[in-house]
Parts: sequence; structure tokens; C-alpha cells
Amino acid sequence: MTTALRFPAGIDSERFLRDYWQRQPLLLPDALPPPTLDPEELAGLACEPEVESRLILGNETHGWRLRHGPFDEADFAALPARDWTLLVQDVDKWLPAFARLIDAFRFLPDWRIDDVMVSYAPEGGSVGPHIDSYDVFLLQLAGEREWRISDQRLTDPPLRDDSDPRVMRAFAADRQWRLRPGDLLYLPPGVPHWGIGRGDGCMTGSIGFRAPDGDELLAAASTWLSEHPRPRAPYHDPPLAGQAHPALLNEDAFLQLRGLLERALSLSDDELRAAFARRLTEPKPGFEPVPPRPALTRTAFVERLKQTGRLYRHPAARFLYYPRADGGATLWVDGEALETSALQWPLLRLLAGQALLELAELAPWLEEDDDTRLLHALYRRGIHAFEA
Ligand code: SIN
Ligand code: CO
Repeated sequence: MTTALRFPAGIDSERFLRDYWQRQPLLLPDALPPPTLDPEELAGLACEPEVESRLILGNETHGWRLRHGPFDEADFAALPARDWTLLVQDVDKWLPAFARLIDAFRFLPDWRIDDVMVSYAPEGGSVGPHIDSYDVFLLQLAGEREWRISDQRLTDPPLRDDSDPRVMRAFAADRQWRLRPGDLLYLPPGVPHWGIGRGDGCMTGSIGFRAPDGDELLAAASTWLSEHPRPRAPYHDPPLAGQAHPALLNEDAFLQLRGLLERALSLSDDELRAAFARRLTEPKPGFEPVPPRPALTRTAFVERLKQTGRLYRHPAARFLYYPRADGGATLWVDGEALETSALQWPLLRLLAGQALLELAELAPWLEEDDDTRLLHALYRRGIHAFEA
């Protein structure tokens, strides 16, 4: 069961996707009960070497300084009373309550979701005015933050040269709000924004999205080709006649080479779909699911599930599926494909739709071999586990 986002009156997820997503900012007051997080626990994460963390100190007058973690107690003890921010990436991968928070955003494609970053700031703490190249939902978790945004969309604004983080040289706010716990601000890419901690104990969660670019898709296609080799097509000379100079690349030879490359890159839609799906569902490096050891047999897995009563999805798992011509679907999870049948659509939607699966939801799917085989396959890959 998941908590839905509360949109402002007159807006639902369909209207949001049509009119706001990637287009314009939207404030959603009282959108979601925020997960609780003790600032000490966040600081503890920032002391771990596997966790990506940053401290940003400064203000508009003096500029901003960036330091990368891991940090230690002495670093925190030496901080001034105000004007600093601690940022911790991938909190959804470390804390189950933040993995479940993402369920509220699953009206958006799974593979577009990147991570939940959490910031902590005392009065005046900020990372400075900037733009991000990705979509982001900013959820106020605790305390208060003042958000200022500009209505201009920018791609490459001039930056301050006295600051390490990418801070805009000039920023003029067109709109301003003060967010309290549960309030949410959506910003599309390129909207200049500046969030400043107000009072003490401001904590903000940023649900960030990622988008592939052409280079990444080219890499996906070429990885696919290298793993699914086709008969090699060697170069053949075009009819050779009257070469003006031995070193000249003449137009016929160039066209021949270009045609060869185009044929080498031409993949069917099915192949491309698989190549993209594989790439887009690869787990973030460092967060790869680990198969359970020892693994349970399918029968033991079903028994254990009936006892424990729930399955937790690996926080870095990305699900993506598409229909097949035979009525079933190909489900990609963490770069690997699983085939599901036409009868398994409701199960597929359940599995791909939420981070926590309760026994009551799974019970109808524990009777048929095909269904338990699918559940067991995900468990054996480390995608689902009995503990968070
Ligand atoms: C913050 O949480 O302090 C900054 C998040 C952002 O501006 O993207
Ligand atoms: Co930002």
C-alpha cells in the first residue's frame, strides 16, 4: 500500500504530467507526510566512506565553499552556528523509510528516478542560487526552508568565480515561499532556485530524476551489439576508377564507409527496446543487489514469505516492462530480462509498482507455479528480500 501525493485543488497526477512536468514549477502544500529522520543519523551517514556527502559553507556576501565527505565528529563540532548545509545522496538506498517515500512518485517512470538526497541546514544554510539539469521534487522534512525561484528557464547562466559549488552570479527571485514539513515544491530542469534554511533544524529531501542523453543510448546500443554479435560485414571497394591521388578519400569510398556504419548500427525495434531497457535498469554503481546466501528453494521461499508476511524491494532496483506480441510482457530489472505471461499482468503491475509488498497483496499469486517462479526469480537475484 502506498501513500499518494496530495495535489492542490483542481490538479491530479494526469493534469500535473500534462501541464507541469518538465514545464513549470508547482507548489504542493501539505502534499505528503514526510519520513522522520534524526539529524544525528544523517550526520552519522555522512561519516561513512560508502556514503556520498558534502558540506557547503557560506552565504551571499562571502561566497560558498564545498567540502566532500566522509566527515567526522570534529568536522561537525567545528561548524559555525549558521550558514552551512550538509547534503547526503542516495538516502533512499540507506534508509528504508526513504525508499518507501519514492512510491508516492511512481506515477512517473521508474527508470527516471535517481535518488533521494537529504540536506540539513541551520539558519541561513544554503547551496546558493543555482540551476539543476534534472527534474526535482523538494519535500520539506523538518523545520522550514525559504524557496526563491526565478521564472526564467536557463541552461548555462554565468557563475560566481569566488565559489566552489556552481552558484549563479546574478539571481532575481520572481516567486518566494516558506515550506513547512510535508510541503513539496516541484521544479523542472533549468529553473533558477535558491533554498535557504530558516530557524534551526531545516531538513529537505530532494527526489531527483535522471535522463539519458544520446551518448548514453549510443553506448547502450554498442554494448548490446558487442554482446549479440552479428556476421561481420567487411568493407568492399566501390568500383575504383580514376583515383585522382592515392591519398584522396573519394566520395564513393566515403559513401561506402558511411553505409557500412549505418548497417552496423541498425538494430530492430525489439533489439533497441532491449538494449535501452537493459541500460536504463542497470543499478547505480555501488548499489548492486546481492543474491541471498544461502538461497532458499522455491517451496522454502513461499513458506518463509507466508511466515514473514512481506517482501522489501531492493532500494536500487529499477523496473521497466513492455508488452510482447504474444500478450505477455518482458520485465527488465537491474539489467536482466524476465518473461511474464498474459495472465501475469496484475502481478507484474504489483511488483513493478511499489517498494513494500504485503502478504495480503501477494497471497493470490502464491498458488500457480508460473507466479511463484517469477517471485522466486526476483528473490534469487536479490531484488526482493524478507528484510529491508
Ligand atoms: C538543498 O536541499 O539545500 C538544496 C537542494 C537543491 O537546491 O537542489
Ligand atoms: Co537545486
